[in-house]
Formats: sequence, C-alpha cells, structure tokens
Amino acid sequence: MTSPSAVPPTTHQMADFYDALGPLLRMAWGDNFHIGYWEGPSDRSSPQEATDRFTDVLVERLGVGAGCRVLDAGCGIGSPALRVAGSTGAEVVGITISRQQVDQAVELAERAGMSDRVRFELKDAMDTGFAAESFDAVLAFESIVHMDRPTALREWKRVLKPGGRIVLTDVFPVEDESASPFNPAFASARRAEVPDMASFVTFEDWPGLVADAGLRLEELTDVTENIKGTFSRMLDAFLDHRKEFERKHGVTLEEVLDAAKLANQANPTSSGCLIMVATKP
Ligand SMILES: C[S@@+](CC[C@H](N)C(=O)[O-])C[C@H]1O[C@@H](n2cnc3c(N)ncnc32)[C@H](O)[C@@H]1O
Repeated sequence: MTSPSAVPPTTHQMADFYDALGPLLRMAWGDNFHIGYWEGPSDRSSPQEATDRFTDVLVERLGVGAGCRVLDAGCGIGSPALRVAGSTGAEVVGITISRQQVDQAVELAERAGMSDRVRFELKDAMDTGFAAESFDAVLAFESIVHMDRPTALREWKRVLKPGGRIVLTDVFPVEDESASPFNPAFASARRAEVPDMASFVTFEDWPGLVADAGLRLEELTDVTENIKGTFSRMLDAFLDHRKEFERKHGVTLEEVLDAAKLANQANPTSSGCLIMVATKP
C-alpha cells in the first residue's frame, strides 16, 4: 500500500524541502534530522539524547568495526555518520541530495577532526554511481520515506559486499485513520501541484519488499512505542524557538513550514516506526 502520491518529488524539490526546514530543525531539534527514541513514558530525555540514542540502537545492528566501509544513504547534516564512525571505527561515506547539507556535514566532520574517515557527497541514494560490492553496510536512517523503496533497496544491494547488511528505519501509518496520511479529506485538500515529500508502506509490506530485492530479512521490529510523542515534541520545540528563529532568520515559522510543504503534510502524530535489518546473500 502506498500513499496517494500523485506527483513524486524531484531531487531538487527534495533538496529545497530540507534547505527550507534545516535551519529551524537545527535550532529547535538539533543536528540529528530524525525521530527520537525514548525508553518509555517516564523517559525525560532531551531531543538530542533521544535522537542520539536512536542512532546507537541502529549502530548496534550495523555490525561494523575498524576497516569497514559504511554508506549512510540520506545522511542529513552528518551527525549520525559521525557517531557511527566515532563508536565503531569504521569509515563512513554520507550522501544526500542537498548541497547545503553536504557543506554543513563537511564542516561538522572537520570540527570533529574526523574528515579522514567520514566524508560527504552530493548523490542520489537510488543511483549512487559507487562501485558494486564496495560497502560492508548501508545505513538509511529515516530517508527511505523519500525514495522509491524497491529502487533504493536494489541499489544498496548492488553496492554491498556479499554478507553485508542494510539497517534502516521507516515510518508507517498506524490505526488512527482520522489523522493518518491516508485521510481522504486531507488528501483532497492538498494542492494538486504539491508533491508528497514522503510516501508510506505498511509494516506488513516489508518482508515482500526485502524478498523482491533479493535480500534476506534478519530483523523487522516495530518501535512505535519508543517514538511516541516525537512529532508533538518537535512541534513544541519549533514553537519554543519561534521568536529566536524569526529574529535570527527574518522569516516566520509559518513561512518555513509552508516552504517546506509541511503545512500540507498529514498530522504525523499517528505514525509508527520500524527498524529493518537485511543482509545480501
Ligand atoms: C529525515 S532526514 C534524515 C537525515 C539523517 N539520516 C539523520 O538521521 O539525521 C532524510 C534525509 O534523506 C535525504 N534524501 C532524501 N531523498 C534522497 C535521495 N534520493 N538521495 C539521497 N538522499 C536523500 C534528505 O536530503 C535528508 O538528508
């Protein structure tokens, strides 16, 4: 099942989306452009702690160490890639379709003194141009929502060495139909020319996607309980930083959200989240 996306975004539209949202995200949420992972309702971790924790949850599954090469497909501004390299000793290549993100990621790597092991390139993760069998693992942290999943999985399988693994997260719709991305009222209210920046499949679709790509499914875990409240926390963080942001950047919060097309996005509080691990036979 896919969302009713009439117009898929081009890589330029995708870059514009993140370039509009990036400064607000950095100020309000931090340098990890992904969902937080909380241990439970009483967990009072900050967004920084919870997003770093989610990175660590994925790092455990990558199974890499010094001498390994990891592709971070859809790397944001590089914070997860630096954490992967820092905790495993592996070399990491991060790719994104936003030039702004590449520049910021390079700067973060330099500041962390890790440019020798962590580098960033402007590339489409569905067509990387990297040599076949040149990576030990692929990390795709909340990025496949923006891609055609079968195309992305085939490409990552191609660049992986045999036995290498893909570790990714995906966001999927949960039961509350009134607030889901599939709410027909919402869909019809959307301007026709505005592309969906993300598309969704169900949790149950994943084993088939993995098999069709010729990969072996090692793990499919529903972590919805751990991400509960993340989008409302993000919105609160945006509102908390509204004045500071508007003063610094000279644009209103509404203008940013509209430019990033979020004004037209579904209420994401009903989203679930999964971790998928697959190996190349
Ligand atoms: C939600 S952000 C996650 C960023 C990063 N993984 C993190 O956790 O901080 C999604 C990322 O996917 C990237 N992206 C979207 N479509 C892409 C594509 N076709 N190729 C490469 N990167 C893409 C965006 O530029 C953005 O960096």
